[in-house]
Amino acid sequence: MNLAYKVLQAHLKEGELIPGKPICIGIDQTLTQDSTGTMAYLQLEAMDVGHVAVEKAVAYIDHNMLQTGFENMDDHEFIRSVARKHGITFSKPGNGVCHQLQLENFSKPGKTLVGSDSHTPTCGAMGMIAIGAGGLDVAVAMATGKYYLQCPSVIQVNLTGTKASWVSAKDIILKILQTLSVKGGVNKIVEYTGEGIASLSLTDRATICNMGAELGATTSIFPTDERTLEYLKQQGRAEDYVELKADEDAKYDERLDIDLSTLEPMVAKPHSPDAVVSAKELEGMHIHQVVIGSCTNSSFADMMRAAKILKGHQVADHVSLVIAPGSSSILAMLSQNGALADMIQAGARILECGCGPCIGMGQAPLSQGVSLRTINRNFKGRSGTNDASVYLVSPEIAALSAIKGYLSCEFEDDMYLDEVPSTPFIKNKNFFIDAYDPETEVYMGPNIKPVPRGENLDADIQGKVVLKVGDNISTDHIVPSDSKLLPFRSNVPHLAKFAFSKVDDQFYTRAKENHGGFIVGGDNYGQGSSREHAALVPNYLKIRAIFALSFARIHRSNLINNGILPIVIDQQGYDFFNQEDEYVLINVKESVENDQPIVVENRRTKEKLTAKLTLAPREKVMILQGGLLNAIKELGGD
Ligand code: F3S
Repeated sequence: MNLAYKVLQAHLKEGELIPGKPICIGIDQTLTQDSTGTMAYLQLEAMDVGHVAVEKAVAYIDHNMLQTGFENMDDHEFIRSVARKHGITFSKPGNGVCHQLQLENFSKPGKTLVGSDSHTPTCGAMGMIAIGAGGLDVAVAMATGKYYLQCPSVIQVNLTGTKASWVSAKDIILKILQTLSVKGGVNKIVEYTGEGIASLSLTDRATICNMGAELGATTSIFPTDERTLEYLKQQGRAEDYVELKADEDAKYDERLDIDLSTLEPMVAKPHSPDAVVSAKELEGMHIHQVVIGSCTNSSFADMMRAAKILKGHQVADHVSLVIAPGSSSILAMLSQNGALADMIQAGARILECGCGPCIGMGQAPLSQGVSLRTINRNFKGRSGTNDASVYLVSPEIAALSAIKGYLSCEFEDDMYLDEVPSTPFIKNKNFFIDAYDPETEVYMGPNIKPVPRGENLDADIQGKVVLKVGDNISTDHIVPSDSKLLPFRSNVPHLAKFAFSKVDDQFYTRAKENHGGFIVGGDNYGQGSSREHAALVPNYLKIRAIFALSFARIHRSNLINNGILPIVIDQQGYDFFNQEDEYVLINVKESVENDQPIVVENRRTKEKLTAKLTLAPREKVMILQGGLLNAIKELGGD
């Protein structure tokens, strides 16, 4: 058996490990960040549970930390109070980035973790099955200790050889992205094997697992060895070490071989993490900004390597270099060993430990500017400047280029840090709050609005088609991801005002006037991200059903979680619907209960249409009860 399936097997609660089949696994740990966490905790609150059912649940504040209005701090205070009420560890703002902190403080070989952030797989470096999921799934995992997913297949990435000095872990994952593309890992677990692993430190492996998310992979996993133990010792947690590896004759569904000795420094060009080229091709490109940090590259080793390059040099006049260490421990260590002074002396701006520029919270680049970043994503506009060009690079290239003023991989020998000191981490317990008081009153400031709830399915449903759209409607069309809307992730009524605003600016008014209704879409409705708000907002607006030629997988689940019927129609069905006409779903409750086709009647013309709705047993319960929150008592199990 491969390692991924060994860990899954040890946690399997329902189903069999056959790729594509639904399974349920037991969850040991959860994590949330503040941007998705507020909604996850509103959902947890609505489930009316006591202490969380997992071994360790942590609520991090790392995304929306700029306090230019009251909204972000309202969210932080809400999360702090919920954490106290349910026995969740609260990580205060400034403590660092969730994945870096989880790795340092709580990761354990062989455990399972779900987190409401897509880079949760970072902890796969520790031999964990660590999966990013929607907020509601994480809330359910906190309440029940369970997580439902489609069993992934496993791709083996076999590493041989040893990388050259100036080749970093970032270059390895960029090479894999270049080979497999951003779709190469969908519904797969990437499992690393081979003697090349031994040359990679635990945090190198974390960088690689982190950007497995950019492959679209469910997660990535490394076996454990002396390097794992070395890291756990640094963290003062050697007793957490367990040796884990695949069987000699383990089976995999696919295989990719990478000889580390053939690699060179790489760069991902705008606007996709798989637009990867050799750094040499871009040597000399003029730059304006350099950002070192994020959950991908903010480890102690990353910071030390960057500091060594910067030491005794000066950041180019026209370049703004910003550095955000991954955790308060790392920042304390850098300040103690002098590396922080080397960075500051070179002219770097030190940011507080958190996501910051990665999520567009501050440090937006110059208009039409070029920004080199050690982060994991370079989608257009994510930096906060729509026409800026963001290139993804290693911390080494970032630091060197900041000095030169142009992209460079021409390192001088004395810039190389032969060995990163394996110093014990300075543990700062003051940023972690472990308190449990079930009587805690939850703080609900004006930015926190209740989570929308669906209604039990009526015998018939009637309403107007309030919007008819074409193919490839993305979650971003449904709820824009504009950085100005980020502080309103816990305020669905405010977000609703912007629903479909890029497609039809009258949608919100129409949906409100008609008290909801139906939406008709084309192919691949809801594509893009797992953004749960793209289902929460229609739920709030009382959209009861969406008819589409096809649905994107995650969005379909999110609709069902919200009690909205995702009904598949054909082209004839698409033509049957007219925006503004009124329709009735006849005996829809009975049809759902008995797995019958859905019959729809146009109330004006009396024409009828028969459409498909295929639901798994668990999904049927959610639809009948108006969503997962209402059905949790029945579905939550033990
Ligand atoms: Fe934060 Fe960026 Fe990672 S927003 S969690 S640093 S991908």
